[in-house]
Amino acid sequence: MNSTLTQKIAEALAPISLRCVECDALYPGAESGQTPRYRCDCGGVLDVEAQLMPRIPATPLLDEAGDILNAVEIDLPPRAGASWRQLFDERSGGLHTWSGNTEELLLNQSGVWRYRELILPVPTRYVISRPEGNTGLYPVGLENCGTGRVGHRQIGKFAGLERLYLKHEGENPTGSFKDRGMTVGITIAHLLGASAVACASTGNTSASLASYAAQAGMRCIVFLPAGNVAGGKLAQSLAYGATTIQIAGDFDDAMRLVEQVCNEAGIYLLNSLNPFRVEGQKAIGFELLQQLDWQAPDWLVLPAGNLGNTSAIGKAFRQAYQLSLIGHMPRIASIQAQGANPFYRSFMQNFASRESVQAHTVATAIKIGNPVSYTRARRVIEESDGVVEEVTDEEILAAKAVIDRSGIGCEPASAATLAGMRKLVERGVIKRDERVVGILTGNLLKDTVTGIPQRADDAVVEPALPAIRSVLKL
Ligand code: F0G
Repeated sequence: MNSTLTQKIAEALAPISLRCVECDALYPGAESGQTPRYRCDCGGVLDVEAQLMPRIPATPLLDEAGDILNAVEIDLPPRAGASWRQLFDERSGGLHTWSGNTEELLLNQSGVWRYRELILPVPTRYVISRPEGNTGLYPVGLENCGTGRVGHRQIGKFAGLERLYLKHEGENPTGSFKDRGMTVGITIAHLLGASAVACASTGNTSASLASYAAQAGMRCIVFLPAGNVAGGKLAQSLAYGATTIQIAGDFDDAMRLVEQVCNEAGIYLLNSLNPFRVEGQKAIGFELLQQLDWQAPDWLVLPAGNLGNTSAIGKAFRQAYQLSLIGHMPRIASIQAQGANPFYRSFMQNFASRESVQAHTVATAIKIGNPVSYTRARRVIEESDGVVEEVTDEEILAAKAVIDRSGIGCEPASAATLAGMRKLVERGVIKRDERVVGILTGNLLKDTVTGIPQRADDAVVEPALPAIRSVLKL
């Protein structure tokens, strides 16, 4: 690593500290000459603490190196909500064309970097982005879904909710919400001069990392639980050129091993244990709030596995509330599969102890027994007056069938969202008329087998009208 780069890293990461979520110890964002730090000396997971970034003007003046010259230092007053809303709304306005400043455009077009002051202060030329985000928010409740959209309304009917929205994170570049954290993680890897990156994954993180590493020209190594990664996800990692290591164990084994290998071999670790990835995933929260014109919903419901997403969205809501971007904190409901429910078990004892299980579920994305971000996510549930719910595989598959048949579609783990909210409505925890946003985390095509009716081979029809008439019973 040359000295200019080292100085740039120090500058870029100066406003950032890493705080241990267990013992409160504080570390600099990057320690010169040190290997990257993913954990506190006590073993605790780290959380990014950033002073708010200088505000970047709508038309930045860039020097030759791409650094912004006219950033305005702002002393963020506690009631600055309106000006932040205006800035983010300006950036997302209109159709983006490539005639202007490409770098600024790329950043404004990304549903992550549009909120860059709240995500990560890095010189623009280090940013590696597809761009990501800008995913659909579908009104599917009985009241907020037009009667003509019969298919989508079935979702509201199934959930028993009048004002329901589904945010489809499967519409990200690699088909899952992971891209939002990955653009930030890989940008840090780039800034640190990493030549190789790695993760353990149930499939989506690895697909995303493989794609971003390919874009950045880095070697990518992914640790996967053998036989437990859906076909579409595995195909992506292979196609993007990652080295795949299939572990004869579960995700929790893969996670433990990748951390050891990364520390030993100086490979940059990009699981959600990496605190910078969580910062990028916060953008799901900011973007959905912006799509709702900054009117916070009453509830946010999402599937929970390693608990990175629960931590990230909760942090985004906390920051949005602190900045007066929104007037109240949504309550968060994390949904686990019954056979992979350590967080639910802890919640049921008021978090008296941290549980772990041997995980089993058809929703392989959330087949995780010992979630890394437990403490971060616990804080989110407590702070937001949230809940943790569990759903059976049968309930997940029933909900998936409704989402699929509506024409939206999602992968099995995502359907835990709908299954969970239905249960919470039935139990009276979520009220029928409350405004609810559910997150669909992955694309239908990630897993083309689980919960999808498979056609028998003999369903091939002769290429003649009589045969077709007979099949269609016309
Ligand atoms: N939904 C999908 C589709 C996922 O891929 C994951 C996690 C989750 C939900 C749970 O999110 O872990 O932040 O609580 N997938 C990880 C992976 C573990 O390796 O792709 P979480």
